[in-house]
Amino acid sequence: MMSSLHLLLKAVALLPIALGSPYLQAHRKDGPGLHTLTAYVPGDKVYDGLKVEYGGYLNLFQEKTGQYCPTQVQPNCPNGTELVFSGTFYPSSMVPGGQEFYVSGDGSTHITVQHSHAFPPGSYPYYYGWTWTSFTNRPAPSAACPTDDPLYNCDIPTGYFTFKAPDGPEGYEGGLKACRNVYDESVTSVYAVTPGFNLTGCVKMKGLATHAYSGVNPPVWAY
Ligand SMILES: *[C@@H]1O[C@H](CO)[C@@H](O)[C@H](O)[C@H]1NC(C)=O
Ligand SMILES: *[C@@H]1O[C@H](CO)[C@@H](O)[C@H](O)[C@H]1NC(C)=O
Repeated sequence: MMSSLHLLLKAVALLPIALGSPYLQAHRKDGPGLHTLTAYVPGDKVYDGLKVEYGGYLNLFQEKTGQYCPTQVQPNCPNGTELVFSGTFYPSSMVPGGQEFYVSGDGSTHITVQHSHAFPPGSYPYYYGWTWTSFTNRPAPSAACPTDDPLYNCDIPTGYFTFKAPDGPEGYEGGLKACRNVYDESVTSVYAVTPGFNLTGCVKMKGLATHAYSGVNPPVWAY
């Protein structure tokens, strides 16, 4: 049975683009400025500090973000290599109108393709579920973080995001996990623990850490 809150969320999600809405823009700007993400898993020598890059999902163990450059724009696409967001999960890309980020009902993490602002049924658009906590006393990076490994960003983060869906049942806690991708076992992806999430054998993360970004921006034409 759908709660009225859930119906309201769906109604909001169906608003055409809604980019002009001051309500949504206010939410967009909440959180950190331009930033990249890493896995925040304090004490874990393998996962803590792994960069989050895009490849159809937010992925770990991936050196550079996947990107799309239309033939008519080549060779003039930006040459960035990182997945960059601003505020609360607003993807930084050049495509007119921008792109949207959302969590699927099963917890997988996605950015809409160029020119699409459609959130799939049952998904959580970027403005639901995420909380950013700024570090006032920034934790020292893990001593184990391999600074010369391009899969990692060992800089001290500015804060971190956590996820908790607004429509979970009693006792539901939310969270974030690193799991083998359902569609490609060689890929490790970031999953949000939604009420519908059911993967096993995952690594629990404390959050997604944020790092101020000052490289070429937007870094890509589209993700
Ligand atoms: C991107 O291009 C700019 C200007 O041509 C150059 O300064 C910069 O080093 C390039 N960055 C990368 C990551 O290749
Ligand atoms: C997990 O959820 C997916 C849909 O998100 C479903 O297809 C699958 O059967 C579920 N698996 C288990 C073990 O419940």
